[in-house]
Amino acid sequence: MKMNEPYEICWHRDKTLFTPGPLTTSLSVKQAMLRDAGSWHYEFHVVVNSIRDRLLAIAGVDRHTDGYEVVLLQGSGTFGVESVFASCVPMSGKVLVISNGAYGERMSAMLKLMRIDHDVLRTPENEPPTVEEVENRLQADPGITHVAVVHCETTTGILNPIHEIGEVVQRNGRQYIVDAMSSFGALPIHFQRGGIDFLISSPNKCLEGVPGFTYVILRRALLEANRGHQRSLSLDLLHQMEYFDQKNQFRYTPPTHTLLAFHQALLEFEAEGGLAGREGRYRRNHAVLMEEMERIGFRPYLESKYQSPIITAFYFPGDSRFEFQKFYRLLSDQGMIIYPGKLTETECFRIGNIGRIFEHDIRQLVQAIKRALDQMGVSL
Ligand SMILES: Cc1ncc(COP(=O)(O)O)c(C=O)c1O
Repeated sequence: MKMNEPYEICWHRDKTLFTPGPLTTSLSVKQAMLRDAGSWHYEFHVVVNSIRDRLLAIAGVDRHTDGYEVVLLQGSGTFGVESVFASCVPMSGKVLVISNGAYGERMSAMLKLMRIDHDVLRTPENEPPTVEEVENRLQADPGITHVAVVHCETTTGILNPIHEIGEVVQRNGRQYIVDAMSSFGALPIHFQRGGIDFLISSPNKCLEGVPGFTYVILRRALLEANRGHQRSLSLDLLHQMEYFDQKNQFRYTPPTHTLLAFHQALLEFEAEGGLAGREGRYRRNHAVLMEEMERIGFRPYLESKYQSPIITAFYFPGDSRFEFQKFYRLLSDQGMIIYPGKLTETECFRIGNIGRIFEHDIRQLVQAIKRALDQMGVSL
C-alpha cells in the first residue's frame, strides 16, 4: 500500500507500536470496547467512579486526608494541559513554563493564545533545568504565581527533576503544574514531597488504555479558590468536578468505549503488580533496547543520566544512504512502527518501549532494524 492510498480498515494483524502513544494494547482492553454503555446509566457511573478511585490510588493520594481529587475530561492530553491553565490561573496570574522540548513549547503557545501572562525558562533539548535556575527566576519575579513543567519530555525522552523543582516552587509559595503524560503509571511520582498541585496525564500512555479523554489530579481547594476565573466552557475543570460530585458523570458526552477500555487497562495494571510491575517491565524493555541498539552501532541522543526508560531518541546513521522515510517503510513492512524525531535541529528517530510490549518484541524490532539497514545498504 502506498502512503496516501485509500484503504479499508481490516488489518489481518496489528503492527506493533514502538511509539509514545497511542500504544499497542492488550486484546482484552480492545475487547472491553465491544459494548454499548449508556452514559447516564448507574452501571456506567460505577465504572467511572472506579476509574477515579483507582487513579487516586496510583497517585498515592487520598481525597479526605490529602485533599486531592481527579477530574476526567474529554479530549486528548493537550486538552488536559490547556484545561489546567484555563481553570486554575487567576486573571492576574503569571505562569513560568520550564521548557526543553515540544511539549513545553506547546504550553507556552496555549498561554499566549489564552492571553495569560507567562515567561519561559528554556534549557537545551538535551539538558534539564537546575533548581537554582528555577529559584532565581521565582525570586526575581514575584508576579509569577504558577510554575509548569513536563516530567518526561517525550520530544527526546529526557526526564526533568520534578520533585526537586517542586520543592523550590513550594518553598517560594507558588502553585505547581506537572505534565506527566508519558510517565504517570510507570515512574514513581510523589505528590506531597514534590508539592504537585495539578498533574495531567492520559489513558493511552503508561496505563495502556486507548485515547479519548485525559485526567487531572489536583488539589481541590486550589481549583475551588479560582472560582470565577475560568477562561473556557468545555475545559472548565471546576464545573466538571462539581458535576462528578453531584451526578457521578461527565458534563458533556463521555467517550464511553474508551472508559470501558481504560477500566480494563487499570485492572491489568493492578494484576501486573501496579507501578512496580509496570516500571519493572518498561525498564527491562528499555535496557534491552539500549544494549541491542548500541551493539549494532546506534548512538542515543541523551546522556544516560537524563534518559527516561520510556522513549529514546537515536541519531540518524552518518551513512548518506540512510533515508528515514524508507527506513520507516521497511520496518512497517515487517510489522513494526517507530516514531520520527521531533527535535528542532538534530536528525533523530525515536523508539518507545511502553505499551503491551515485552523484551522479545524489542529484540524482534532490532532484528528488523538490521534487516532494513541491510536492504538500504547502510553501514553503521
Ligand atoms: C509530555 C506530553 N505532553 C503532552 C502531550 C500531548 O498529548 P496529546 O497528543 O494526547 O494531546 C504528549 C503527547 O505525546 C506528551 O508526550
